[in-house]
Amino acid sequence: MRLTDRTRRQIDSPIGAHAHLLGQVPPDRPLLDLSQGAPGFPTAPAIAARIAEVATQPDGGRYAPLLGLLHVREAFAGEVGDAYGTAGSADVSAADVCITSGCNQAFCMVASAIAEPGDDIVLTAPWYFNHHMWLGLDSVGATIVEPADGLEATVEEFEQAIGPRTRAIVVVTPGNPTGHVVSAERLAQYAALARDRGIALIVDETYRSFVPGGRPHRLFDDPDWRDTVVSLHSFSKDLAIPGARVGAIVAGPDLLREAAKLIDCVTICAPRLGQEAVHAGLTQALEWRAGKVAEIAEKQRRFESVLASRPGGFELRSAGAYYGWVRHGLDVATPEVVERLLLEQGILTIPGTAFTPTDTSMLRFSFANADLDRLDELAPRLIDLAESTGV
Ligand SMILES: Cc1ncc(COP(=O)(O)O)c(C=O)c1O
Repeated sequence: MRLTDRTRRQIDSPIGAHAHLLGQVPPDRPLLDLSQGAPGFPTAPAIAARIAEVATQPDGGRYAPLLGLLHVREAFAGEVGDAYGTAGSADVSAADVCITSGCNQAFCMVASAIAEPGDDIVLTAPWYFNHHMWLGLDSVGATIVEPADGLEATVEEFEQAIGPRTRAIVVVTPGNPTGHVVSAERLAQYAALARDRGIALIVDETYRSFVPGGRPHRLFDDPDWRDTVVSLHSFSKDLAIPGARVGAIVAGPDLLREAAKLIDCVTICAPRLGQEAVHAGLTQALEWRAGKVAEIAEKQRRFESVLASRPGGFELRSAGAYYGWVRHGLDVATPEVVERLLLEQGILTIPGTAFTPTDTSMLRFSFANADLDRLDELAPRLIDLAESTGV
């Protein structure tokens, strides 16, 4: 059989790329897995109980409605109102919410509803690799903005990237791989630019719950937000149910109608069990969620303090949500650094080359995965690696 060039020229997922080497980690360096950004703890008891309860109900295994179970869409619209509005005033209702099989599906379906083959969508480097991969798989061009500050584009940088076939600007905040948070003011400028050019602003807010304090943005205050803004969500990280596969699109009904056609063909609906799990999370586990967010913030502080002295020349460029974005000072290609970190020091990371057009000597560390106290093991191991490389 013949396989398409379209899929064959895409990278393999960087997650799991080193699984075949895990058996070779030195015995005196127990594995510190800082690769995939996935919660290392079980979900809330109320969520687990609800999944078990629904699984035994007569309709527990049925398909769900195409746009999601109404009570889940209502609960999430309420959550968005609370999180983004002043006293719940954000102008978002259940009609603006579609529950998806995770935020990855949300992005893919939205991008396909917005851009035809030959159109293009603007991404910022470092990008989230699945966004970049999907556009290539869908024959949509990715115009890459490499911001001068390395973390977020200025409005002028985005403006220069917009061409006649540009259909959207994509922003991930807090960022993956950087953890960087784009301010509400900057997001409002991006939205104004997108509106002016008649294109979409797609904001991937997978890590929204991890934004320290306050409203992530005020884009839903604009009564015309549906013409421009598409906000994408995940319940994988903040409710610790990545395998339940649930996320959401918050957008105007016109876009949701088109995205629904794509969802219908791909998954028919988001998993019913996962949707009920989200409902339990939003109605019974918000305190639990706040506790987990605080635990991960504590890990971030520990990670920052471990890297503060630049052990082995490893320099923390930014941190937030789940991730630290770190520059290695080694005169070695980054994929090789990643392999040596694993084989010599038992540290598993993701190479920055999965997120950028060229090798900029960056690594992604998912500190949220580690046990708090094990983060202290990082410094001596990074120093060891640098010394063995002759730095
Ligand atoms: C920025 C970003 N978007 C989307 C996803 C995928 O989320 P989900 O599990 O909801 O598909 C991730 C997961 O790592 C992510 O980092």
